[in-house]
Amino acid sequence: MGSSEERVVAVIMVGGPTKGTRFRPLSLNIPKPLFPLAGQPMVNHPISACKRIQNLAQIYLIGFYEEREFTLLVSSISNEFRVPVRYLREDKPHGSAGGLYNFRDLIMEENPSHIILLNCDVCCSFPLPEMLDAHKRYGGIGTILVIKVSPESANQFGELVADPDTNELLHYAEKPETFVSDRVNCGVYIFTPDIFMAIQGVSTQQKSRATLRRLSSFEALQPANRSLPAGFVRLDQDILSPLAGKKKFFVYETMDFWEQIKTPGMSLKCSGLYLAQFRHTSPHLLASGDGLKKASISGDVFIHPSAKIHPTAKIGPNVSISANARIGAGVRLVSCIILDDVEIKENAVLIHAIIGWKSSIGRWSRVQASGDHNAKLGVAILGECVAVEDEVVVVNCIVLPNKTLNIRISVVAMNSLPLLSLIRKIWEYVH
Ligand code: GDD
Repeated sequence: MGSSEERVVAVIMVGGPTKGTRFRPLSLNIPKPLFPLAGQPMVNHPISACKRIQNLAQIYLIGFYEEREFTLLVSSISNEFRVPVRYLREDKPHGSAGGLYNFRDLIMEENPSHIILLNCDVCCSFPLPEMLDAHKRYGGIGTILVIKVSPESANQFGELVADPDTNELLHYAEKPETFVSDRVNCGVYIFTPDIFMAIQGVSTQQKSRATLRRLSSFEALQPANRSLPAGFVRLDQDILSPLAGKKKFFVYETMDFWEQIKTPGMSLKCSGLYLAQFRHTSPHLLASGDGLKKASISGDVFIHPSAKIHPTAKIGPNVSISANARIGAGVRLVSCIILDDVEIKENAVLIHAIIGWKSSIGRWSRVQASGDHNAKLGVAILGECVAVEDEVVVVNCIVLPNKTLNIRISVVAMNSLPLLSLIRKIWEYVH
C-alpha cells in the first residue's frame, strides 16, 4: 500500500530518429516507440504497467522526435488511462540520464517522492509495484531491475554484480568485452529525487572525463569523429559504474520475461510475449474463434475490430492484425504482425513475417522466414506499400517500401552479409 504523502512520476525514454537505425525499414514510416506490439503501440505497454502504481501523478515521455509524432498518442492515452501523459522534446540527444536531468525542474514541480524511469525499447512484465516496495526497503537512491541471461548474450547489456544478501549493486560494467556477470540491467529503474544530484555531479565533472569505454546504441550510430554533445550523460556508464559499491544503488531481480527490442525480428517475438501476457491482464483483447469473425484461431491472436477476416482463414499462434486489414479465404497466418490496411488474398500463407502498411499479398503466395528472431533475416519483413503478386514465394527477405515482387525471391547464406548490403541487393533485385 502506498502512503498518502507518496507521489510517483514515471518517465519513459523514447529516444529519437537516428540514421542507420536497426529498426528499418519499419522505422521509415513510424517512430519505433509507436510500432504496434500485440496491437498496441510499443510505448503503451510500459505506460499500462505504470497504471499499477498507486499515487501516480504524471507520465512523461522524453525524446527527440518531433512533437507532432506523439500528439495523437498522448491525447488518446491521457483519456484512456486518466493519468496525465506529456511528451517532452529534447532539442538534441542528452543521453539516458542527461535527458532526464534536462527536465528536472518540470519533473520536480510534481513534488515526487519517487521517479520511475523506463527504457521504451524493452519488453517485460514491468513489476513496478513490487520493485517500488523493494526500493523503499533498501533505502538507496536507485533500484535497478535485473535479469539472469545466458553468459553468451550478457555482453549486449550492462552486466552487474550485486550482494546476494543485501541486493546492493557492487559492480557495474556496460557491455563489457570480458565476461563480468550473467545478471544484466533491464533498463527499468526507480529513483528518489536525489538522482538529480548524482547526475549533476557527473555533468560538472564531464570536462575531465576520460575517453569513452563502451558505446550506447545511440552513440554507436554516430560518425566516429563526432564528439558527444555537451551535457550528454549516460545513466549506465556515467552514473551506475562510478556509484556502484557506495550503498546508493540496489537491484531487484525479475524471474519473468524480458527482452530488448532493437530489431524488427525482436518486435515479432515481443509481440508474442505481450499477447501471452494478455491472457492474464487483458483477455478481452485476445481473439477467439467463437466470435463474430468465426475464423479458426489458435493460440494468442489480436484482431483489430475494423479488420475483415474470412471465416475460412486460419490464424495463430502469435498473430497481430491491425486496423482495416483484409484477410481472404483460406489464408494461413502463423507468427505475424499485419499492419494497417494490408490485404491478404485467398490461400496466401505467411509464416514469421511482418507485413507493412497498405501492402498486398497475392493469391496462393507465400511469405516466410525461419523464425530465428536474432538472425538478420529470421523474420520476413515487407515495408509499406509492397505488392507481392499472385503465386509468388518470398523467403528470408527484407523488402523496402513501394516495391512489387513478381518472381520468387529468396535470400540464403544471409549470415555472411551485412544487413545494409543485403537490403541494397534486394532493392536492386526488385527494382
Ligand atoms: N530521450 C532520450 N534521449 N532517450 C534516449 C537518449 C537520449 O539522448 N539516449 C538513449 N535514449 C533511450 C533509448 O531510446 C532507449 O529507450 C534507452 O534510452 C537506452 O538506450 P541506449 O542509451 O542506446 O542504451 P542501450 O539500449 O544500448 O542499453 C541500455 O539499455 C539496456 C537495457 O535495454 C543500457 O542501460 C544497458 O545497460 C541495458 O542492458
